[in-house]
Amino acid sequence: MKEKMDLLLNEIKEKLNKVTDLKQLDEVRIKYLSKKGPINELTNHLKDLSQDEKRNFGMLLNNLKTSVSNLFDDLKEKLEMKELNKKLENEKIDITLPAFKISNGKPNILEALVEEVEDILISMGYDVVDGPEIEEDKYNFEMLNIPKGHPARDAQDTFYIEGEELLLRSQTSPVQVREMLKGKGEKPIRMICPGKTYRRDDDDATHSHQFMQIEGLLIDKNISLSDLKGTIDIIVKKLFGEKIETRFRPSYYQFTEPSVEVDISCFNCDGKGCNVCKHTGWITIAGAGLVHPNVLKMSGYDPNVWSGFAFGFGAERMAMLKYDIDDCRTFYNNDLRANQNFDRIGGDE
Ligand code: DAH
Repeated sequence: MKEKMDLLLNEIKEKLNKVTDLKQLDEVRIKYLSKKGPINELTNHLKDLSQDEKRNFGMLLNNLKTSVSNLFDDLKEKLEMKELNKKLENEKIDITLPAFKISNGKPNILEALVEEVEDILISMGYDVVDGPEIEEDKYNFEMLNIPKGHPARDAQDTFYIEGEELLLRSQTSPVQVREMLKGKGEKPIRMICPGKTYRRDDDDATHSHQFMQIEGLLIDKNISLSDLKGTIDIIVKKLFGEKIETRFRPSYYQFTEPSVEVDISCFNCDGKGCNVCKHTGWITIAGAGLVHPNVLKMSGYDPNVWSGFAFGFGAERMAMLKYDIDDCRTFYNNDLRANQNFDRIGGDE
């Protein structure tokens, strides 16, 4: 029996000598150590042996099992080491290779400009407020002094949702009304509202059915055009540079009286005349004026006590001017290259 066991041990040793990886080791293990393997089979002999022989045989069998299991364990450890070393060798890091560039995200250029304007006005004590894009006719037109049938509505034709009372706002000016109603005719107001607006326009380089405005409203006592001019002057100087001058031209809006068009001296040619300013030296960037007494009244502010100014910037127009972009669709068509072109703003790259 002892010889049989020695033979078996030698056979296993020989097999193990040829093993080069863990997979092969496992195959050998299954062959010799499984329930139906030769070592277990030896136990079957036990029943034919006398008590003494059994003890002797049992001892030999245990020794065999221990030797075999040590052999397997040692080899397993060696092979594992070998595979680990191989893996480490393959995954060796070459620290001299240049790293891959991971670029940082950043806001869309239009959003970046809006945030810039917000920061300027926040520093002047304004609140940034929101208003609904689905708006009531009442706020979008009526309470801004534009009654039904008024010709001014033609230029602001928009998208209607169920009937004639609910629409996509054609301007951010209704937020003026909403904020005044909140103020209940008692509180001074300083707010800006940047937001999306909609009109039934055919899209081209300078028109879009969806665009952004930045509305501003200040309500207080003894407010005059010079307050408006001073405020706008600060905004444009911060945005376009200290040299920029502001000019007001008379205009007409239903919700302001007097109304003005805000021009700035051309930052491209210092007012001498160039392509950007169409050779006039001036660029129009906003509509503005003193809040119309009717509008104050309708929103609960007594025009004999309160006065105010309002302004509305076209955000795309400002961004197009500031970053020399010639097509407003650039902001919307999701071509990342456009944004990447403007690394100098709104990001940390
Ligand atoms: N809401 C006007 C428009 O879309 C722009 C505007 C003009 C806003 C004068 C104002 C303002 O607040 O005072 O054409």
